[in-house]
Amino acid sequence: MFKKILSKNLRKPSFLFGNIIQNVFDANITVYEESEKYIDFNKIENAFEIGYGPGYGIRNYCSKYKLKIDGIDFSKAMYFQAKKRNLCFIKQDRVKLFYGDFENYTLNEKKYDIVYLFNIIYFIKDIDLFMTKILSMLNENGVILIFMDGADVLAKNNNIDKSVFIIYEVEKIISTLQKNGFKNIKKNESTVFKGSFFLIGIK
Ligand SMILES: C[S@@+](CC[C@H](N)C(=O)[O-])C[C@H]1O[C@@H](n2cnc3c(N)ncnc32)[C@H](O)[C@@H]1O
Repeated sequence: MFKKILSKNLRKPSFLFGNIIQNVFDANITVYEESEKYIDFNKIENAFEIGYGPGYGIRNYCSKYKLKIDGIDFSKAMYFQAKKRNLCFIKQDRVKLFYGDFENYTLNEKKYDIVYLFNIIYFIKDIDLFMTKILSMLNENGVILIFMDGADVLAKNNNIDKSVFIIYEVEKIISTLQKNGFKNIKKNESTVFKGSFFLIGIK
């Protein structure tokens, strides 16, 4: 019962559990920092985050680099948290937050240098369609950056409900990226979270 509530709130945090879940997301600040080893954010002008959660990633990158970030999340609780956390960047016109489901959302024609998503892939049912949509949002040579726990890590995690999380093998995500037009795909294991990976692909 608790497992299911926790998992549902990891997928889509509610107002009631948003603050409790926050502790889980706090640990993910490290992931955003580690991502800077693989991507030179000085070279990025426009970025897009799918599932920004409480907005730690946006705050991290915007406070260190000059880029602009748009993002979408379908949790109203997270939308409000991310907005509060990044208000100064929103006022500077550097951050635009959308509230909605990325899978159904019609975005404008804007193109991005990078689309990144951390800890989201487990909730996406149609990953082919998902990758195609991301590809269409990228500039030529634009980058997709995915952070995900490997299947072994998720399978051993007794706190999550497997009816909420889809356990994808990292190789399955890599082949889906290739199939849908991404090139030069690289897989880097996190040095902090063993068995979790950064996947990078180029349009
Ligand atoms: C596990 S949290 C990860 C948050 C953040 N990326 C991190 O790593 O700390 C997943 C987030 O993605 C959002 N999310 C999941 N599926 C989504 C979708 N299809 N469209 C928009 N947001 C989604 C949830 O609302 C939640 O805030």
